This record gives sequence, C-alpha cells and structure tokens, in this order.
Amino acid sequence: MLNSNDKHELKIRSLHPLIGAEVTNVDFKEPLQSSIVEQIHKAWMEHQILVFPNQKISDEQHVAVTRNFGEPEIFHQSIIKSKFVKEIFRVSNTDENGRLMPQSDPIQKQLSSAKKWHTDSSYRSIPAMGSLLHGVEVSRTGGLTCFTNMYEVYDALPERLRTRVEGKKCRHDFEHLSRITGAIKPTDEERASMPPIWQPMVRLHPKTKRKSLYISPIYNDKIEGMGETESIELIEELAVFAGQDKFVYRHKWETDDVLMWDNRCTMHIVTPHDPSERRVMHRTTIVGEGPVLAA
Ligand code: OGA
Ligand code: MN
Repeated sequence: MLNSNDKHELKIRSLHPLIGAEVTNVDFKEPLQSSIVEQIHKAWMEHQILVFPNQKISDEQHVAVTRNFGEPEIFHQSIIKSKFVKEIFRVSNTDENGRLMPQSDPIQKQLSSAKKWHTDSSYRSIPAMGSLLHGVEVSRTGGLTCFTNMYEVYDALPERLRTRVEGKKCRHDFEHLSRITGAIKPTDEERASMPPIWQPMVRLHPKTKRKSLYISPIYNDKIEGMGETESIELIEELAVFAGQDKFVYRHKWETDDVLMWDNRCTMHIVTPHDPSERRVMHRTTIVGEGPVLAA
C-alpha cells in the first residue's frame, strides 16, 4: 500500500547514446506534482529531448503541462497559431476545419522550412527555452523528427571550424525564412516586432553550464565579419557537421507522443512524408529565461 512517503518515480529509458530518453509513469492529463516536475526537468537537462508516449491530451492540457516549465510563447504572426487556443502553434497540413491544405498553400510553404535544421524562435531577442510537440495525427510515410545534440557537436568541432565560430556572432532573421521557402513575407508590423538580431555562435547553457554550437540555419543569413556567400556556406557546413548520424536521435511518431526538447542545446529537422497524408502536430513553445549567454 502507498503511504505519503512513497515517492512517485518516473521511468526513464535512454533512446540513443548521446541524446534522447523516453519517460513513462506520468500522466499529462493530471496536474503534475512539483517532485514530478523536478524529475522531468532533471532528465531534460541530462537528455535534451524527452519522449512521453501515450499522452492523449487536449490543447488546454498541453498548455497546462507547458506552464510547469515556463511561460508559453504566443506566435507573433496571425497565421499558424490556433484560433481556439492561442498558445498552440499548428505544425499541421490541415486547417482547423480539418481540411487538407495543398503544399502550395503559404502556410505549408512556411512550415516546409522545418525540413532544414533549426531551433525554434531563435530570431527572438530572448530565444525560446524549449518546445513541446504533440502528435495528434502522425505520419506513416515519413515525418520523422530528428534531433541533434549541439553540446556534443561543439565538443567535436574540428579546429578548422572551431576557430571560425569561436567568439563570433551570427544573425538570426525571421524574414530569412520567407526568402528560403517562398512563404509570404511578414507584414510591416510583424517585421517591426521581430527585427534581426545577432547572437553568439557558441553559447553557455544557463542550467547545465555546458557550451554548445548555436546556429539555426533557416534564420541565419550573416556571420560577423563575413560576406553573405561565405556566411551561408559556413552555416551550411556547420549544419552538415551537426547532422551526422552519431549526434542524432530520429523519432518515429506514434499517436499521442509528446516530445519536449531544449532549444538552447539542440537543433531539429523533419523528414519528408507523402503530402496527401494528414499530419497534425500541435506545439507549445516555452519563452526563454533571459538573453543568450556567450561562452
Ligand atoms: C516544430 C518542428 C518538426 C515536425 O514543431 O518546431 O520543427 O516534426 N516540427 O513537424
Ligand atoms: Mn521547429
């Protein structure tokens, strides 16, 4: 029989030698006790990305779980976020009436940027801490989400690349996305609310104090002291280095998986899938605690 001293323990199983763990014995439909939140946070800092299977949650429950870790971010554009729950970012190829959108739809073009390595909301002056993605309708033909460990990537950088990023800043510009995907350009108002920002290319994690390579190739258009072509080529070379299999956990989705990742020390990418197949994923994003710390 349980008594009040029995501690509720999460079950944690590593998914890859360098990144990712599965967490069970927790139910996101219920409010989380503070000791559970602490255990999740500890595992999160250790594994960078956590997979919570079988979490059949509503959008409201999704937002409530998110609030245990910080403030949910509200997307600055009127498109993509849910009309019903404003904290939900719809990484989906259906609209809120359930209709499939063609790939030519501007929203789909914008979301197609996730087929390149990135980290969420890096264009904000205080970039996002983390994200929680709920697989509502998952793909059977692809649509795997892959995560790379940017601590390990930084540690493994060859001298030739390390000297090119150490002490340097690169620019993160939300508008770069529309240039590379052909999505609709942000309105003047949206652009004014998200001016391009410069961030260190090597950052210190505020909790773990580890150094990581900090790039987000879908938003990076310039590196300090370099021309445009040289900047883009170096970002591309760093992305290829970071995407090596040894650093990457590839997640094949099951319905009602919830994935929680740390945007401060990882990048992610989604693999293609048959566009005529519905894929409905709901994301919350956690606002960062403060400016990026240069390492
Ligand atoms: C995201 C994202 C990839 C995916 O939600 O931030 O990039 O798997 N998603 O759809
Ligand atoms: Mn993303």
